[in-house]
Amino acid sequence: MPAGPSSHRRKKSVGTDYWARYQQLFPRYFWSEETRLASVIVADAKGSTVRDTSGKSYIDLTSQWATNNLGNVPPEVLGVTVEALRRYGFLTYFMTPHIPMIELAERLIENRPSPNLSRVFLELSGTGAAEGAVKHAVEASHRPLILSFLGQYHGLSIGTNLIGSLSAHERRYWEAWGGGALHAPYPFPYRRPRGMSPEEYGDWVLEYIEEQVVGRQAEADRIAGVILEPVACEAGIWIPPAKFVRGLAKLCEAHDWFFIDDEVETGLGRTGKMWGIEHFGVAPDLMAIGKGISGGLMPIGAVMGTEEVMGEAIVAAGTTFAGHPAACAAATKTLEILRRDKIPERSARLGAAALKRMKEWERLPNVGEVRGLGLCLAVELVRDKRSRKAFSELGRRIFFDCVEHGTIPLWNYGDHVVRIEPPLTIEPETLDAGLDAVESALRRG
Ligand SMILES: Cc1ncc(COP(=O)(O)O)c(C=O)c1O
Repeated sequence: MPAGPSSHRRKKSVGTDYWARYQQLFPRYFWSEETRLASVIVADAKGSTVRDTSGKSYIDLTSQWATNNLGNVPPEVLGVTVEALRRYGFLTYFMTPHIPMIELAERLIENRPSPNLSRVFLELSGTGAAEGAVKHAVEASHRPLILSFLGQYHGLSIGTNLIGSLSAHERRYWEAWGGGALHAPYPFPYRRPRGMSPEEYGDWVLEYIEEQVVGRQAEADRIAGVILEPVACEAGIWIPPAKFVRGLAKLCEAHDWFFIDDEVETGLGRTGKMWGIEHFGVAPDLMAIGKGISGGLMPIGAVMGTEEVMGEAIVAAGTTFAGHPAACAAATKTLEILRRDKIPERSARLGAAALKRMKEWERLPNVGEVRGLGLCLAVELVRDKRSRKAFSELGRRIFFDCVEHGTIPLWNYGDHVVRIEPPLTIEPETLDAGLDAVESALRRG
């Protein structure tokens, strides 16, 4: 029987007095009313649902920002995590190496997207992994610059915020710190220039890199590498033309640039393959991993790299809590389950069915486009289909309407894209019920 909302509802409420208390205390301790994302205070979480302090159950279409790919509190992962905590507690992985880190490295190598990735570096988060990958590229190549794409997100640390460029608002006050990052447009098909096909837009971006970046901003041998999100998830699930990604890999080869693949959100089955880059048949030189790697139970990030980039250079990267033994054990188990239970394939199957249903929503007046790969789906809201002007107020209304009706979609403050990124283990009927809630909210408008 699915662990859906009904099974939660039967449980005893943990007491509504918490709700009143938190309502009062939230604005005092945490974010402002304006920026808060949900009106839910979670009492417990399980599978594809969370339950609030009043006992109300919600379908979780966020997998906690694409992290709990195996559902909330996956029992098998929990077991090995607790066992590793008992056995090892915390050990500094670069001073007192431990068994779980070696087992994780072996498991990652087994699951790599291409055989050239033969080395592993451990971090604490997706941000740390993206930044670690960039550090390796710069320090191994002795070149100071990184080329990135407008709209990408790699984290909010000073470095990753400026390597990415999700929004000018997030870069506010820090703009001047990003001297090492060059940016080109991300060829997002829905917002391509008039008269161009998606592929032509991709070609145009490649030409832009050659003519406007290499020709006018920095010579090719000053650029260490290119960082790409194979699907730009935080931007709103932007899926680039395959021809563009392959062309970019060729450009990297031609200029001796490291191809850095940020798989923090696209990895671990999210897009219907183990790694997002596998959709494009490209072999990256560096790959950043985070979020779903430990089943959401322990924070950990990882970078995989080639011999050339990781085998020799002494790179100043790392952090004390990187490679926590329990996080490594959780990650090894998660990778085992992803393969054993064919979770990426499941994500592809469920995602294709969901996309088919969601495509119908494009008939609604304010739905500009529905798109997705695997369980990485987006609804782009526009004021009207001709102008394609972003309609972020509607995003907010849809989000809070869904929450009120017991479903939490993925939505970021101020965004005009509502995303569906549920656990990859979600039961088809729970996913359908969640999509019912989103559809009803869209129809109410
Ligand atoms: C592509 C990508 N890279 C890096 C990060 C940063 O990961 P974290 O917030 O877990 O540090 C994210 C987070 O959303 C991401 O989507």
